Amino acid sequence: MTSTGSVMVLLKEGLCPGLSEDLIKALREEDVRTVEDLVLSDPEQLAQKCSVSYKALVAVRRVLLAQHAAFPVSGADLYDELLSSTSILSTGIASMDNLLDSGLYTGEITELCGGPGTGKTQTCFSVAVNVAHELKQKVMYIDTNGGLSAARLLQMLQQKTINTAEQMNALQRISVLRVFDVFALLSCLQRLRAGGLQKGDVGGSVKAVIVDSVSAVLSHMLGGKQNEGMSLMMQVATELKVIAKDFNVAVLVTNHVTRDGNNQVKAGLGQSWSHVPRTRILLQRAERPGASSNLRTAALVKSTRQPCYTMEEFDLSPPSRGEARPGSAGKRKLDVDS
Ligand SMILES: Nc1ncnc2c1ncn2[C@@H]1O[C@H](COP(=O)(O)OP(=O)(O)OP(=O)(O)O)[C@@H](O)[C@H]1O
Ligand SMILES: [Mg+2]
Repeated sequence: MTSTGSVMVLLKEGLCPGLSEDLIKALREEDVRTVEDLVLSDPEQLAQKCSVSYKALVAVRRVLLAQHAAFPVSGADLYDELLSSTSILSTGIASMDNLLDSGLYTGEITELCGGPGTGKTQTCFSVAVNVAHELKQKVMYIDTNGGLSAARLLQMLQQKTINTAEQMNALQRISVLRVFDVFALLSCLQRLRAGGLQKGDVGGSVKAVIVDSVSAVLSHMLGGKQNEGMSLMMQVATELKVIAKDFNVAVLVTNHVTRDGNNQVKAGLGQSWSHVPRTRILLQRAERPGASSNLRTAALVKSTRQPCYTMEEFDLSPPSRGEARPGSAGKRKLDVDS
């Protein structure tokens, strides 16, 4: 169902007359979730399988076809229309997309948690690069631990295209904000909510907001006797939720991990934060013998769409496709004299 770079319009009530909650439910049971799925399906068979009226289904299909497929996909108006509804942004990592039921959903917060070096930041880079290059959409990347590497972003882009203008255009679409404490993060999120996401800051609307990491600025504020840390954490949560919903963007955050009483790895920031992300993925090193040091496992530990505790493997540094020269992107050796 997914292909890297696709933006899909989910079937939802109000999208067109006749597309009722019941019809959507019945279609979903037959795995028809997007306009694309519906348009590509055989209405007669589908009406039978879903036990819905053939006439009603054909009417809905006709309107959706007129709305979504009558113009070239490259038409700016159609694209705007597509993007104004819920879309799914591919992460650029096939196995991650499988866990996420196709990718990151706009309007929602998704969390990647894991220990040091498990690939949270690399995955954020992949998302940023994919949204900026494949989807040609803007990304707001909030870096709270100094982990952002422009050289690595370029390296990933070089693996997607050898066209340097395209690489630069994609980099232009990724806006980076560096904040190193929770107060700066809050004021930055408030500014984005007050309109910075639509205009000003990035010169166009943003489809993905990445915060790598939320725990870096929050975890040390928690605990102790004061509740200030908890209150700040919930303020960050509210800002992120409002940004996701009001601007219809996909929010991706990263979080550290701790261990519970049974020495099992669990996401950091505690119980209250655990309700904030709609979807949570736990990253770990793949520990089996002979596994490459770049191999990671991703487990779905919270989801409203897919069965939890499904697991996928992925490589943090897959072989390059283009003429990229891994390791050299943007790097410059410092001369002793300079
Ligand atoms: N080209 C590359 N550039 C950088 N790191 C790479 C590359 N290829 C693979 N890696 C691996 O990615 C890992 C780093 O992952 P990443 O920085 O995403 O971890 P993290 O989960 O964000 O950790 P932290 O919690 O410390 O921020 C390293 O083990 C590194 O070996
Ligand atoms: Mg990191």
